[in-house]
Amino acid sequence: MCGIVGYIGNNDCSDILLDGLTKLEYRGYDSAGIALLNKGIITRYRANGKLRNLKKVIYSVKNVEGSIGIAHTRWATHGIPSEKNAHPHNSENFVIVHNGIIENYRELKSFMIENGTKISSDTDSEMIVHLIEYYYKKNLNFENAVIKTIKKLEGAYAVLVISKLEEKLIAFKKDSPMIIGLSDEGTYVASDVPAILSYTNKFIYLNDGDLVIITKSDMKITDFELSPKEYNIKTLNISPLMAEKGEYKHFMLKEINEQSRSVADTFRGRILKGGDELDLDISNLDSFIKNDLQKIVITACGTSWHSGLIGKYLIESIARIPVEVDYASEYRYRNPILDKNTLVIPISQSGETADTLAAVKMAKKEDSKILSICNVFNSSIPRESDAVLYTYAGPEIGVASTKAFTTQMSVILLLALYFKKVKTSVLDKKILEGALLLPENINKILKTSEYIFTLSQKYHLYSDFLYLGRGLNFPIALEGALKLKEISYIHAEAYPAGEMKHGPIALIDENMPTFIIVTDGNNYDKVLSNLQEIKARKGKVIAIATEGNKEIKDFCDDVIFVPKTLNLLEPFLNVIPMQLFSYFVADIKGTDVDQPRNLAKSVTVE
Ligand code: F6R
Repeated sequence: MCGIVGYIGNNDCSDILLDGLTKLEYRGYDSAGIALLNKGIITRYRANGKLRNLKKVIYSVKNVEGSIGIAHTRWATHGIPSEKNAHPHNSENFVIVHNGIIENYRELKSFMIENGTKISSDTDSEMIVHLIEYYYKKNLNFENAVIKTIKKLEGAYAVLVISKLEEKLIAFKKDSPMIIGLSDEGTYVASDVPAILSYTNKFIYLNDGDLVIITKSDMKITDFELSPKEYNIKTLNISPLMAEKGEYKHFMLKEINEQSRSVADTFRGRILKGGDELDLDISNLDSFIKNDLQKIVITACGTSWHSGLIGKYLIESIARIPVEVDYASEYRYRNPILDKNTLVIPISQSGETADTLAAVKMAKKEDSKILSICNVFNSSIPRESDAVLYTYAGPEIGVASTKAFTTQMSVILLLALYFKKVKTSVLDKKILEGALLLPENINKILKTSEYIFTLSQKYHLYSDFLYLGRGLNFPIALEGALKLKEISYIHAEAYPAGEMKHGPIALIDENMPTFIIVTDGNNYDKVLSNLQEIKARKGKVIAIATEGNKEIKDFCDDVIFVPKTLNLLEPFLNVIPMQLFSYFVADIKGTDVDQPRNLAKSVTVE
């Protein structure tokens, strides 16, 4: 789970590579490195820790030159974060960067050691460069040495290779993402679009089994036998600014504040005529939905799993189709019942999460239909699916997911309404009209940021929090707790409010504040009783309540009011104060909000 960037062209490329790595730091950030080819000499620069350490190394050296280069930002899997384990890895004539995992690296390592190769790192990746060197020395040319190496690799890989012997960059991939960017100034290769969006908007999305041979004047895509392959060039109309921080201190804060826009974008072109029509452009599934669909399985990880839980509530209550929701990491190993009457809905911001992708592949083998919900265009999960509904959140850079979550819920809401429409010809226009008001209501909550900041100041020193909600608001409690723990490192756990008295209530005292969602929807009175049980045990309570609720202040320490909406739409609003609270607490504590410790944005390994 790393980020890679490569360039070959007319310009000196150290800045291009460093700029690309900066945009990819969300993929991994425990060490970084670049290698530049200049007049037959390859120079490598590597540093442990954040990218700024690598930048310091490079800026302290004069004459960093090269118009061919490769670069890497690492999230350690094999071998601790350290300079010696940082990429690029080299042999006598070649240098590589790798994203993925080489599963048979032990076997390859023994083979290389028997052949007298000196291994310099603890990584699996280093074996790739030594194998290329080994085959090259067996009289194969650059391309054929790479091909021979690929045949020996088991696992997942996106690899860039350069050689001091030729002005050429070779890229190849299987089960790890990689794209090519084309411009008159040169050819770019990267793990993800934001890395090179400042240089081009013309992209080729590589498929598994693609090998790309790039020189300064030519580019060829072949399979792993060197037979030419056809490809499409896609022009993307995303502004580079969308991938940058703008006026905000952190990407996470920017992304929280974008949610009014991103939810509106996700509805745009789908909710038509003010809520009188709904068009999801998935009519290829209509006959299946109407005649064959018996069960839906939603599978996802982390925050995306929480939106899956919301999906269960929405689809079951609106469309009356049974829904199971499973963590992808559990689902893929539990021998689930799948068949051709099952619709599997993977939800993933990145579209690259290894467990979710594996669950999809498993479901496909059982002939189930796949309808994915994803934020990254043409990423691996959409490419495995029968149909895709994209969330239009735009690039999400902060590791903690925020705008992806609300746009995932937006798509699921529309999907639940669509299922009902196809099955019964009835469209719930009232819900669609309510949905169209969500962006404005999200904005209203964002305007209360300063007040939420004061609450964060008041509560940031507590070391444990409880989050409670019922029904549709239980997944929001889970999401609130996840946000707090992952960026502020404060322990937080979530329960359905009604489950309190079956154990968690024992935790309550004046040192454990509770965040409770007590908005007007179903079970208001019951949640209010749960709240009183906490107060009776001297627990501090922050409540999220609906505007106009006059009694709530008497029952809790602090209240955050949210606008009134339909019961089914409450989660869209209730999650926003929780995201802001977590953000401010983490910022006050001074944690690395956008890149919290031990986490990475795109979990492309098991
Ligand atoms: C939490 C978070 C993670 C992701 C999870 C799934 O803030 O970001 O829990 O939600 O790793 O990632 P995707 O949605 O890319 O499959």
